[in-house]
Amino acid sequence: MKISASFLTIDNIDNVNKLVDCDIDYLHLDIMDGIFVNNKNEVINITNKKPLDVHLMVNDVYKYIDTYKNLNPTFITFHYEAVVDVLEVINYIKKFNIKVGLSIKPSTKVEEIIPYLPYLDLVLVMSVEPGQGGQSFIMDTVDKIKKLKELKGNYLIEVDGGINDNTINLVNDADIIVVGSYITSGDYEERIKNLKEKIYG
Ligand code: DX5
Ligand code: ZN
Repeated sequence: MKISASFLTIDNIDNVNKLVDCDIDYLHLDIMDGIFVNNKNEVINITNKKPLDVHLMVNDVYKYIDTYKNLNPTFITFHYEAVVDVLEVINYIKKFNIKVGLSIKPSTKVEEIIPYLPYLDLVLVMSVEPGQGGQSFIMDTVDKIKKLKELKGNYLIEVDGGINDNTINLVNDADIIVVGSYITSGDYEERIKNLKEKIYG
């Protein structure tokens, strides 16, 4: 299981840099347009020290893909609920040799995205309502991860929101966990070490 660290709840660049230097697998970039979700957040100047995992919580996906492709991210993930032609967006991202993720909100069922699974590199299951850090893990997520695992596709399963040293035990089947406030509300290195202890024993 890999850790993708979200810095949504960090408000100064020194601490973002401190996080980037920690033992994390990906840096998770939460991009919000103020329309798909109420909050607004753009991240343009970011170091390339860690592989980037871009999470677009936006309606105008093409505009944001065009901006964030320039950071050479490993993944660009967009929301199923935000677009009309899902396959067209998948193919657009693939054109840039960037891996594609599709994300579902807590109210969206796994069954809805089954037609797209063969084309995806990653499925991002939101375990909180998208839009802000520091919320509590929604229990229905556990079943969704189980379902995605049973479907045995060629995609990675990522889970985002409310993950800490307790809830991590609920998402053992995920390949990537996104963790924000649990890391950033304490000593970063120590919190990451706690998570790794739960992962590797
Ligand atoms: C929520 C974001 C998450 C979130 C993670 O809209 O997509 O990445 O900030 O933060 P925590 O771990 O605090 O829930
Ligand atoms: Zn996110």
